[in-house]
Amino acid sequence: MGVGTMTNRKAFPSKIGLTAPTLLMFFITALSLQAGEIESNIARGGLLYDKWYAIADSGPPKVTHPSYPAEGKKKGRGTWRCKECHGWDYNGKDGAYAKGSHFTGIKGIRGAVGKSTEAIIAILKDSTHQYTGGMMNDDHFRDLALFVSRGQVDTSKYIAATGEVNGNQEKGAGYYNTICAKCHGRDGRKIQDMEETVGKVAVTNPWEGLHKIRNGHPASEMLALRALPVDVAVDVLTHARTLPVTK
Ligand code: HEC
Ligand code: HEC
Repeated sequence: MGVGTMTNRKAFPSKIGLTAPTLLMFFITALSLQAGEIESNIARGGLLYDKWYAIADSGPPKVTHPSYPAEGKKKGRGTWRCKECHGWDYNGKDGAYAKGSHFTGIKGIRGAVGKSTEAIIAILKDSTHQYTGGMMNDDHFRDLALFVSRGQVDTSKYIAATGEVNGNQEKGAGYYNTICAKCHGRDGRKIQDMEETVGKVAVTNPWEGLHKIRNGHPASEMLALRALPVDVAVDVLTHARTLPVTK
C-alpha cells in the first residue's frame, strides 16, 4: 500500500483521470479521514468523563451530586465526575470501586456500549444525572456520548482484578521513552506539579493510567494515544508500572 501510494502520488498531475477506481479511492480516503475526526471527539469525551468541569466553561458545581449516595465517602464537586460513580474501568460497583473510599454501589456504563448518542445524551439530562442548566454545551454532550458508546475499553482484557497488566514492557519502554518522557522524564517524575509520579498512578490505579494514556489528562498539554491500537497504550502502561512510585 505504501509503495503503491507513492507511485500514484508522483503520477497524479499528468496521468490520473476520474476513473471508477480513482473515485472509489477518494471515497475510501474521505471515509477514513472522517473516522479519524471522530476519534478526536471520542478522546475529548474521555477527558470529559474524567473531569468535565476542568474543560467546560461553566465551572464546577458547588454542591454534592444529588444521586451520590449518602453513605458514600466523597462530597462536593468531585462527586459530579463520571468516573466517581462509574469508575476508571467503567464497571462501577462491579469493578475496582467495588470497595474502598470510592464505593458507591452504582453500576458501570458497559451496558451503554453501542447505544445511540441521542439515548445517552437523554440519560445525562435525566433526573438521576441532572447535567442541565448550561453545565455543558451540545458539543460536550455529543463527545461524552460518543465516548460512552464507542470509546470504552473492555479493561478486563488487559488488566486483572489484582491490577496486573498483560502488555509487553519492552515495547512499552520504546513508546514511553519516545512519547511520554518528553514531558514526564524517563523516570516519570519530571513534572513537579503532579501529586503522584507516573509510576505511582500506573501501579496503584492502572485503570486510571490506561484511561489517561488513551484520552489525555483534562486541561493539560498531555496528548491522547487513542488513534493508536489499544495494545500500544497497554504496553506503555506495563512499562510505566516499572517506574519509581515516589517523587
Ligand atoms: C453521582 C453519581 C453519578 C454520576 C456522577 C454519574 N452517573 Fe451515570 N448513572 C448513575 C446511576 C445511579 C445510574 C443508574 C441509573 C438507573 O439504573 O436508573 C447511572 C447510569 C448511567 C448510564 C446508563 C448505563 C447503562 O447500563 O445503561 C450511563 C451511560 C451513564 N450513567 C453515564 C454517565 C456519564 C457519562 C457521566 C458523567 C457525565 C455520569 N454517568 C455521571 C449515577 C451517576
Ligand atoms: C506534552 C506533554 C505530555 C506528554 C507527551 C504526556 N503527558 Fe502525561 N501529563 C502531562 C501533564 C501536563 C499532566 C498533568 C500534570 C498535573 O497534574 O499538573 C499529565 C498527567 C499525566 C498523568 C496523570 C497524573 C495524575 O496526577 O493523575 C499520567 C498517569 C500521565 N500523564 C502519563 C503519561 C503517559 C504514560 C504518557 C505517554 C503516553 C504521557 N503522560 C504523555 C503532560 C504530558
